[in-house]
Amino acid sequence: MGKALEGIRILDMTHVQSGPTCTQLLAWFGADVIKVERPGTGDATRGQLRDIPDVDSLYFTMLNGNKRSVTLNTKSDKGKEIFARLIKACDVMVENFAPGAIDRMGFPWEKIQEINPRMVYASVKGFGPGPYEDCKVYENVAQCTGGSASTTGELEGFPMVTGAQIGDSGTGLNLALGIVTALLHRERSGRGQRVTCAMQDGVLNLCRVKLRDQQRLAHGPLKEYPQYPHGEFGAAVPRAGNASGGGQPGWIVRCKGWETDPDAYTYVITQAASFHALAKAIGREDWLEDPEWNTPEARLPKLDQVFAEIEKWTMTKTKFEVMDILNPLNVPCGPILSMQELAEEPSLRATGTVVEVDHPERGKYLTVGNPIKLSDSPSEVGRSPLLGEHTDEILREVVGMDEDEIAAAREEGAV
Ligand SMILES: CC(C)(COP(=O)(O)OP(=O)(O)OC[C@H]1O[C@@H](n2cnc3c(N)ncnc32)[C@H](O)[C@@H]1OP(=O)(O)O)[C@@H](O)C(=O)NCCC(=O)NCCS
Repeated sequence: MGKALEGIRILDMTHVQSGPTCTQLLAWFGADVIKVERPGTGDATRGQLRDIPDVDSLYFTMLNGNKRSVTLNTKSDKGKEIFARLIKACDVMVENFAPGAIDRMGFPWEKIQEINPRMVYASVKGFGPGPYEDCKVYENVAQCTGGSASTTGELEGFPMVTGAQIGDSGTGLNLALGIVTALLHRERSGRGQRVTCAMQDGVLNLCRVKLRDQQRLAHGPLKEYPQYPHGEFGAAVPRAGNASGGGQPGWIVRCKGWETDPDAYTYVITQAASFHALAKAIGREDWLEDPEWNTPEARLPKLDQVFAEIEKWTMTKTKFEVMDILNPLNVPCGPILSMQELAEEPSLRATGTVVEVDHPERGKYLTVGNPIKLSDSPSEVGRSPLLGEHTDEILREVVGMDEDEIAAAREEGAV
């Protein structure tokens, strides 16, 4: 048993969220991730949304676990020289700066390949080649331009962004897969390659079912959408509230305590195969004999009434009681869990999905651990590094500098 990516060294030029998500994942799998940060300031997120004065924010600490930090001014002459030596010594370089930033540092892909032909060079950008390729992009811009916002929200309301970071963390996951795939290919070809992921593409990939529905619209109304049969469909896929998006109708319904608890709700799916059991559980056995209700086709135009009846029943139960009753009946349902409930959930702690780590300046904090579990290669989730915590050891061990050279580099502000 060993860590899956042990022996892979990553030159991590990432900042904010999308890139760091990718390199943190690789670090959890055992890669040696060397995070290069600008001397004095480092990754801007160290200082953003701080909850404790002068201590690295949770924004930073939760995205940079298991990494080593080296400070390096890649725009100074000595800094560039050290950077080139790091490129030579690493297997993968990852960055998510604004378009062209690494080129402006003097390191276009051709030069990186020249320095290290085995290098896998991976980038996140907001957009792929096209009219917007030079734009800077943050999470919600990607959600808006990737089809998520136009298809999320109340039926008659504004486009809505989701709290899940599908543009940033979602694209970071894509990039990690691209890197591992390129490393596997390098085993055969002996050469590295360029990996690029655009946030717009990543969001659209996650909105695949909505592009499916766009094409279905040409052949008639989307019958599983709440707009059917009473509302109008326009030229583009509309927002569908909490409708399921799949072939089985679903909705969010209130549960006991909803008047005071903003998360006392549950999602219920009226899957045809278990509709009998659901109808019995909510006391509507009469539906089973009634042709007005006993087939999916008959229910489709009246889904609002179906869920209103289900809700009458769920409002007499807590969301956990609903889960306990419906799950054994094979009725898919899911309580709306708050962040507080998730943070305290013992089973998530037991699987390493929520992990408590210790930090020398902030003390203990919670982080979201590795969502990918390997049977033979466990991942350990550790704390994030302080700014420049590993500068000397990296310059010595990875770059091969002696104490005098390190002191001189420090003297001239290169590290
Ligand atoms: C996220 C983003 C909008 C932030 O923009 P920003 O804060 O203005 O930062 P930038 O990426 O433009 O660049 C940082 C600058 O710092 C410089 N820099 C970074 N690390 C450095 C170092 N170690 N030494 C010297 N300079 C450094 C870069 O070279 C760049 O300088 P330049 O503009 O002169 O070329 C932008 O990086 C971006 O669009 N990234 C791609 C998409 C992305 O990943 N977005 C999601 C973020 S979660």
